[in-house]
Amino acid sequence: MFPFKTSLFLDRSCAQPLYVQLSNQIIQLIKDQKLPSKTKLPGTRALSEDLGVHRKTVVACYEELLLQGWVESIPKKGTFVNSNLPDFVPLDFVKEDRSFKNERGFSFYSNEFLNRKIIEQNENVMYVNDGISDTRLTPVNEIARTYRRIANRASIFQHLSYGSTFGNEKLREVLAEYLNTTRGLHITKENVLITRGSQNGIYLSSQLLLKKGDVIVVGKTNYISADLTFLHANAVIERVAVDECGLVMEELERLCKKKSIKAVYVTSHHHHPSTVTMSAERRIHLLNLAKKYGFAILEDDYDYDFNYNHAPILPLASHDTNGNVVYIGSVCKTVAPVFRVGYLIANPEFINEAANLRRIVDRQGDALLELTFADFIQSGELDSHIRKVIKVYKARRDLFCELLSNELSNFFEFEIPKGGMAVWLHLKEPYQWKAVAKTGRKHKLEIGDYERYDSANTNHNCIRVGFASFNEIEIKEFIVRLKLTMRNLEKDV
Ligand SMILES: Cc1ncc(COP(=O)(O)O)c(C=O)c1O
Repeated sequence: MFPFKTSLFLDRSCAQPLYVQLSNQIIQLIKDQKLPSKTKLPGTRALSEDLGVHRKTVVACYEELLLQGWVESIPKKGTFVNSNLPDFVPLDFVKEDRSFKNERGFSFYSNEFLNRKIIEQNENVMYVNDGISDTRLTPVNEIARTYRRIANRASIFQHLSYGSTFGNEKLREVLAEYLNTTRGLHITKENVLITRGSQNGIYLSSQLLLKKGDVIVVGKTNYISADLTFLHANAVIERVAVDECGLVMEELERLCKKKSIKAVYVTSHHHHPSTVTMSAERRIHLLNLAKKYGFAILEDDYDYDFNYNHAPILPLASHDTNGNVVYIGSVCKTVAPVFRVGYLIANPEFINEAANLRRIVDRQGDALLELTFADFIQSGELDSHIRKVIKVYKARRDLFCELLSNELSNFFEFEIPKGGMAVWLHLKEPYQWKAVAKTGRKHKLEIGDYERYDSANTNHNCIRVGFASFNEIEIKEFIVRLKLTMRNLEKDV
């Protein structure tokens, strides 16, 4: 007879009910073949006495085992380990490890190129970022209040189920109107797919536009995640220079004459990473080329709202009369990255196709959050949040740039960005970011994955340094640490 009494251990301090502990242990004994099929389990009274538990606990355990198919009950005979269980492959005794297996018992396709360095976050360390908002300024209480108010509506239940793969109807309507007013678009809700942020929009579009070998043109410096998304679609990436007016159109035109171009990806408002704004002349040139050569323009307007020297520049999408532009944006930079609400704007056929694709990737968005943002936009709260943070970010930009110029001009040069949340910082000769990153760590300054800004290996020696997420004290501290780092390096030069 199997020694049940000494093989089963119940922990009364554990939150898991006793009958579940018991059934899990019996299952494990069956899997380990210590209880082979057809083994008779003790009667419920006997086992409850052996273990010092209520008989109901053992009855519940046996019912659970029966329900899961591990045991079978034979009337008038008792409970037996199921006779039809297939044999488990015996455990290797050397590695009798009950934790979730770290080894893999199957192969899968890995995308090495998607591997990005993960920087561990430690207290007291300052991290250079790409240009992100200050989450401390997020109107999280207002958003939560709106969310709760919407969730409390009597009619909310319809929104809790499977819904449209295009996104919430109300938000599509509100956004169409909002984008028409603020960005000079001429769209209706049929042109709008609600996404989970801009990156989701870039992914869906690239899957629809690009197949193996198709050519997409990007800047010589470009947003790394966009590059990776295009590579994941097996596209060929061609690069053209970016100067102080944006992508160089003469280079693009030469490419168009040589190759069939499927799409051009632009961050026209503030080029990522160099922050320059595409000039009006280049914008018109690009739209004309798109019309002539029949390519799509993927316009990623990731930080439209942040302009400090002038009104926002209307996107290419607002001048597109030929249906070439796929326009992408989100609230993730404007409000906070955690709110995954964005939009893809294009002709209805493309939008329908994107909604079909979305069904198999993500099914749908978060309708409650989408309704919340519809309300947030309609009530004017989004605009007042933008007005508020623009003032703060402008002051931070000014302070950051002033300190950089006053304290660190021996080492760096840069243009004051007209908008956005980052400075494109050029490290002067003979310094290299690799050494700055290494020495910076000694001063609790983490430069991070600086290599991602030069995927074309042009050695431009620039990185993006975000200023918006640091308050005044933090900006000053950042400059102190950077200065200490550079002083250290100066000694070795
Ligand atoms: C140029 C650019 N596009 C898209 C994104 C992704 O934005 P979202 O958070 O809306 O997906 C980012 C985020 O840093 C970005 O810098």
